Amino acid sequence: MLESILFRDQTDADTDAVRTLVTAAYHGLPHASGTEPFIMDALWRSGAAAVALVAQDASGLVGQAAFSAVHIFGPDGAGTGWFVLGPLSVRPDRQHQGIGSALIRHGLARLRTRGAAGCLVVGDPGYYGRTGFRVVGGLHVPGIPDRYVQALPFAGLPPTGIIELHEAFSAAE
Ligand SMILES: CC(C)(COP(=O)(O)OP(=O)(O)OC[C@H]1O[C@@H](n2cnc3c(N)ncnc32)[C@H](O)[C@@H]1OP(=O)(O)O)[C@@H](O)C(=O)NCCC(=O)NCCS
Repeated sequence: MLESILFRDQTDADTDAVRTLVTAAYHGLPHASGTEPFIMDALWRSGAAAVALVAQDASGLVGQAAFSAVHIFGPDGAGTGWFVLGPLSVRPDRQHQGIGSALIRHGLARLRTRGAAGCLVVGDPGYYGRTGFRVVGGLHVPGIPDRYVQALPFAGLPPTGIIELHEAFSAAE
């Protein structure tokens, strides 16, 4: 199934299709804010999406994943080289086929080649644990319960401190 899918960088020409995809994937979910399409738009427009991938097949876009830099304010000063995954969307009719996991793996590989320190994610540990993310004590995102905050260090230990996401994550329209 995955063999028929092209994983590639997002381009400006994908903007409308990505918005439609993100809207459809997050629609009506209890953990969704409804702002995810706006967040993705803002990440893309601002250039904050350091890695933005789409998954495409003959029917169009079936998935997307964005990775943006964060600042971590910790006991040892501000941590750099860390990125956060999100939004992550797979078209509802194509979920449970491994596309989301493949997007994560491709994105993590790209971050490694950029020399990143590691990647963070906010979400269900039951899902993200499958690709190596672990809940880290002492790592906080304001307004988010710590049990959803996970890290995957590429070397060494995960950071501690307060994560500041890009301002695009506050986009509401
Ligand atoms: C989350 C999402 C990106 C996953 O994409 P996907 O392509 O369906 O994921 P994969 O096929 O790689 O993996 C799905 C597997 O993970 C498992 N899984 C999903 N959530 C899980 C969880 N919370 N705990 C344990 N396993 C979980 C599923 O059981 C599934 O396995 P199965 O196919 O054997 O049933 C997709 O469901 C989606 O777009 N959801 C809506 C948007 C969203 O919630 N994004 C993430 C926000 S944090």
